[in-house]
Amino acid sequence: MAEDLLINKGTKEEQYLSLLPQIKGLLEGETDEIANLANIAAALKEQFGWFWVGFYLVKGDELVLGPFQGPVACTRIRMGRGVCGTSWKEAKTLIVPDVEKFPGHIACSSLSKSEIVVPIFRNGTVIGVLDVDADQLNQFDTTDQRFLEEIMNLLAPVGFTRRVQEG
Ligand code: SME
Repeated sequence: MAEDLLINKGTKEEQYLSLLPQIKGLLEGETDEIANLANIAAALKEQFGWFWVGFYLVKGDELVLGPFQGPVACTRIRMGRGVCGTSWKEAKTLIVPDVEKFPGHIACSSLSKSEIVVPIFRNGTVIGVLDVDADQLNQFDTTDQRFLEEIMNLLAPVGFTRRVQEG
């Protein structure tokens, strides 16, 4: 496993294309989920420099804060609350260009301006979400969605099936 990340300075797509095999390398041979989530958060933060990158994991009827990089954050989010809780409830990726316009957004930090939340599926069920916050508006698009979903799919064990999205 390589322990130094090579940082790409190209377009967003080039950055993801450079990062993806490195993340695969980081996960290779490691089965501990917390270790893998921690390294994914660190790799994304190091490559893109986003304000906050981290995971919330489903525990009972709540999301609970998992490994992350960035300022301290709220620890528990109920299903359907905020962007993370809505992504969990709807089992789909949400891109929020301006968090202040998202009804019920949970402001862990007033510096967070835009956000993308990507669910992690296991056997068709959401087991957690990746939450990425930027300190500028409009930072996320379908390129982020495509690659971040691909990265989340790396976490799925054999037997994983992605829930078919409708609409
Ligand atoms: N903004 C999130 C809460 C988590 S923090 O931003 C880290 C939300 O509304 O779900």
